[in-house]
Amino acid sequence: THKTLDSQAVLTWFDQHGRHDLPWQQGITPYRVWVSEIMLQQTQVTTVIPYFQRFMQHLPDVQSLASAPLDSVLHLWTGLGYYARARNLHKTAVIIAGELSGQFPDTLEKLCELPGIGRSTAGAILSLSMQQRGVILDGNVKRVLCRYYAIDQWSGTSAAQKQLWQLAEAATPDIRNSAYTQAMMDLGATVCTRSRPDCQICPLLRDCLAFKHRLTDRLPVSKPR
Ligand code: ADE
Repeated sequence: THKTLDSQAVLTWFDQHGRHDLPWQQGITPYRVWVSEIMLQQTQVTTVIPYFQRFMQHLPDVQSLASAPLDSVLHLWTGLGYYARARNLHKTAVIIAGELSGQFPDTLEKLCELPGIGRSTAGAILSLSMQQRGVILDGNVKRVLCRYYAIDQWSGTSAAQKQLWQLAEAATPDIRNSAYTQAMMDLGATVCTRSRPDCQICPLLRDCLAFKHRLTDRLPVSKPR
């Protein structure tokens, strides 16, 4: 009952207009991608960049993070907020260095067992750092999908979550999967923004149901209260 989002159009847009020089896109490792994804969960890219750089200077790999005192990790996190993220990061490093011989798990299921890693973060790690097909559904991607498909339900219910994951799955290509993952994050962050989206330059404009029905300003719907 809908036209699947045109991943090819998204990829072409990404090649021309996406972000290709973010620090975690250089010297890609699962460790660097993991740390960046955790920092980016509740914090904007421009804020994260200097924190990420300093973090990597002090703790360049999972072994150094695992052996660092928690205090020093929290110190590197000062100012980023949501400190549970830093505690989980440390916990997970201890598990990987201690129980997994320093290797990141390479399946969705195993990644999701680690503290602080949910389905979307696991998908990002697989996609961006392990040459595997990964599917993501973070805040940016949710907004793009809710608008493109004109989903007029709050995304917090399990039915809506299920539908969104299904749409995210269906839209995600096997070829150039990592570029697509980064592209959707970039599209949500720079074009399909919460307020004042720049629809005229969007690669998905042609088939976007929110645009067609002039619903862009009202989608995604916020939590009912
Ligand atoms: N937000 C979450 N992950 C991101 C990434 N890899 N690049 C830019 N923004 C993001």
